[in-house]
Amino acid sequence: MIEYIKKISPHFDHIQNSIKLNAKKYNVPIIKDDTVLYLISVLSIFKPLNILELGSGFGYSTYIFSKYTNSETKIISVDFSLEAIKNSKELLASSKYVSKIDWIHCDGLIYLQKERLKDVDLFFIDAKKEDYYDYFNTIITKAKSNSIIIFDNLYLNGDVNNLKSLKSQKVHLLNCSLYNNKKGIFTFLPIGDGIGLFVIS
Ligand SMILES: C[S@@+](CC[C@H](N)C(=O)[O-])C[C@H]1O[C@@H](n2cnc3c(N)ncnc32)[C@H](O)[C@@H]1O
Repeated sequence: MIEYIKKISPHFDHIQNSIKLNAKKYNVPIIKDDTVLYLISVLSIFKPLNILELGSGFGYSTYIFSKYTNSETKIISVDFSLEAIKNSKELLASSKYVSKIDWIHCDGLIYLQKERLKDVDLFFIDAKKEDYYDYFNTIITKAKSNSIIIFDNLYLNGDVNNLKSLKSQKVHLLNCSLYNNKKGIFTFLPIGDGIGLFVIS
């Protein structure tokens, strides 16, 4: 189905194609095509003004946030790799939406711990999987009501089913705790590599 959608859809442009080719060449993971479509839907319904992304990679998801939000929206994209930030800046340099993006070189958890986070409408978590649990617990103590947290890779390519690594055990623990958390509503969607949406009450 996704191939048919991509054939007729205007949502995959030349900048996305160029990031995709680079990501493939250098083996850097990026969000999947169905995740792109999901994010576009969320952005058009929710209309966030401030987005905080952990894990810039090659800037593929950053580009989606910049393209499908209104002109006042600000996107902060945090990565602990200077090279990732340099690459995503280069790949997005020709984009007409690039002025909406600020890149910050920092560890994701440290950034969350030191910032207020009160103005963030949408958090997108795609950095260190072992830290997802701590990312969530830090965000939930500071974020405002009605903000949303979107997690990528909650399925870890199926590893959360066999729990052979510490990483999969940690993400599995997070998945279960998100369902039990009374501070909001959690949905785990079978999109991409497992998308989680937590809406803070
Ligand atoms: C899967 S890539 C992000 C892909 C990107 N969201 C996309 O779809 O285009 C993960 C990124 O997280 C970054 N990362 C890993 N551990 C991190 C940490 N502790 N703090 C900040 N960034 C981290 C890596 O450098 C890498 O660029």
